Amino acid sequence: MPTALITGASKGIGKAIAEKLAAKKTDLLLIARTENLLKELAENLRSKYAVQVDYFVVDLSKPDAVEKIMQWCANKTSEINILVNNAGYGLSDAFEKYSIQEQIDMMQVNMRVPVQLIHALLPSLHKQDQSYIVNIASNAAYQSVPGLSLYAASKAFVLSFSRGLRYELRNSAVSVTAICPGATDTDFPKRAMVSAKAAKAAAKVNMSADAVATIAVEAMFAKKAEVIAGFINKLSAFLVWLLPKKAAEKIAADIYGL
Ligand SMILES: NC(=O)c1ccc[n+]([C@@H]2O[C@H](COP(=O)([O-])OP(=O)(O)OC[C@H]3O[C@@H](n4cnc5c(N)ncnc54)[C@H](OP(=O)(O)O)[C@@H]3O)[C@@H](O)[C@H]2O)c1
Repeated sequence: MPTALITGASKGIGKAIAEKLAAKKTDLLLIARTENLLKELAENLRSKYAVQVDYFVVDLSKPDAVEKIMQWCANKTSEINILVNNAGYGLSDAFEKYSIQEQIDMMQVNMRVPVQLIHALLPSLHKQDQSYIVNIASNAAYQSVPGLSLYAASKAFVLSFSRGLRYELRNSAVSVTAICPGATDTDFPKRAMVSAKAAKAAAKVNMSADAVATIAVEAMFAKKAEVIAGFINKLSAFLVWLLPKKAAEKIAADIYGL
């Protein structure tokens, strides 16, 4: 039975990806902090799709989080053949508004955890006939975003790392896919504490978590390198590519109220 480990599976895009994979008869290992949401999701997916679903509650911003996840996985009989690095969040407003610990915690969740999980799981992913890594980046990976500067930089890291790793693994059993969602209707804006103006702008083009998850799972099985979710987001990334960087940064700064 295929088995997927999904970080940030308690809600939003990660939860929707978990449901899509369960529907394809994939056993699931779900990771997040909110135990009641993971428990509820696990029970729901087990009864709806007759798959095995286990969950592990951990704060990924803690330096030993991946070590704990790997210890937990060591007791499992099934071999993981899908890794979805989805957990992530932003901190909006001026960089200086947040403490350095808050910024480092975000970098830990968005960048260090995917790198550590990939490094730890690659030996077992190589042993499968076919295995997949999906990294959830963002449209923010395509430009600097004043007001979300470090978040956008962390997503540029995820995208660049995904593409490089994919090439390195091109002759192996492991396919690597980066997904770049734009504004998606999840708890992301609340967690990032985005301004009312930015939330209103996002609401006009919001995609559903379900739509993004469909794109992510299809792209993963089609072994795509990089997929921007939805036409509006593809257009936006193209316009960003056409515009002088300073102009794209000014538009973003206006949205984020800086
Ligand atoms: N929504 C958007 O507009 C948007 C756009 C582009 C990219 N993305 C990316 O899409 C991914 C999913 O975000 P989302 O929109 O679905 O947001 P969300 O609804 O806030 O979900 C985030 C998930 O990450 C988990 N998470 C966050 N911090 C964690 C921590 N310290 N330890 C463990 N788990 C943690 C959350 O679980 P707990 O809170 O239970 O821990 C939750 O399951 C992120 O990488 C995000 O950057 C989102």
